[in-house]
Amino acid sequence: MIKEKYTLLLLSHQIRGITTIGDTHKLSAIKNKIIHMRNIIFILSFLLFCEITYAQIKEVKEMKEIIKYGSWAPSSHNAQMWNVRIIGENQISVFPNYNRVLTHVDSENRETWISIGAFVENCVLAAHDKGYNATVKINDKEVIIDFKHSDSKEINNYINPISKRLTIRTPFLDEVLEDSIINPIKTISDNVSYYSINSEQGNKIIEYSLDTYRLQMKDMNKLNELADWMTFSYKEERNRKDGLSPKCLGMSGMKHFFFNTFMNKKSVASKTFINGSIKGAKEQFNACSGYILIKSDSFSISDLVESGRLLERLWLECVKSKIAVHPMSQVLEEQKYYDLLKSSLSIEGEIQMLLRVGKVKKYPERIGKRLDIEDIIVE
Ligand SMILES: Cc1cc2nc3c(=O)[nH]c(=O)nc-3n(C[C@H](O)[C@H](O)[C@H](O)COP(=O)(O)O)c2cc1C
Repeated sequence: MIKEKYTLLLLSHQIRGITTIGDTHKLSAIKNKIIHMRNIIFILSFLLFCEITYAQIKEVKEMKEIIKYGSWAPSSHNAQMWNVRIIGENQISVFPNYNRVLTHVDSENRETWISIGAFVENCVLAAHDKGYNATVKINDKEVIIDFKHSDSKEINNYINPISKRLTIRTPFLDEVLEDSIINPIKTISDNVSYYSINSEQGNKIIEYSLDTYRLQMKDMNKLNELADWMTFSYKEERNRKDGLSPKCLGMSGMKHFFFNTFMNKKSVASKTFINGSIKGAKEQFNACSGYILIKSDSFSISDLVESGRLLERLWLECVKSKIAVHPMSQVLEEQKYYDLLKSSLSIEGEIQMLLRVGKVKKYPERIGKRLDIEDIIVE
């Protein structure tokens, strides 16, 4: 600024020396014009800067909202074993947080990558509702999502079911799911199949699932891992932003009170807890309309992520139709029973998810807690 003023002054002095009074007027008019134009350029650049900064702030804010919807995805034990890195204005990377993975029930990280797939699908669907097209690229370490503004005005309103989706662990009604309800869900993908509870396959699913459940109740490592993700007091229930509270596990009223008052981490090894859990599981396995199965070609990371995406899409459709969903993974976690199930259902490929589904009297509100997005976004 000072330098420019000085140059103008010098110029006018030099010119003044060899010009007439009329010329001096012209020169001063030119000088004023230059100053005027300079001010306009300054204001325009300032406005442009504001516009770019505002657009950037808006995009970062929207990106964070999309990540928040991502985090409402299901994850085994509600461990939320995901981290996110914001790579650029329109690109994020989602990858496992290995400090949160379940080393005993999920030693190969199969459920971790499925959970990440569900997270990714929520991001893709929420982004779409916010006017972005999302492209997903999967590699062995992470999932990259690119967001691009879309001209399409079509909104599928997935944000609503994303905000309402939850795992329902109470017994479901003893009612058949009509073809008009289950067929649209089955046709989402060739990798989805449905077995009614009264079918031969339905009986096999219950038999093997219960056998595995009993087996896992004898495994102290798996029991302790579960206990680590459970809350045992009202205080813990209030303060923890992850894991499973008694409410999430389907307890209410006196059961909830009894659990929070008399149980602690060590109680998971007690006969009361083990027998009570087996009794509850037996009741759950039998109280539903049937089982949805999701399979994939292989256990590759890409197939696992895609299975998680399919799980989430399917689950959101169930929410829209008010069908209760409860993943039952035990049978998929023990090789012997996994093999038995696969051969008795004649499944080609690999089973990735088994979901108990049915109708409930009243579709409950979401209860699961979530970490803040600041906890999952890393540099
Ligand atoms: C891969 C995967 C496996 C799961 N397995 C089970 C299971 O075996 N039993 C169960 O009760 N819930 C299971 N869940 C549900 C989670 O516990 C649930 O998503 C989590 O607690 C968060 O609660 P929300 O779904 O209500 O948001 C599973 C979820 C995922 C993604």
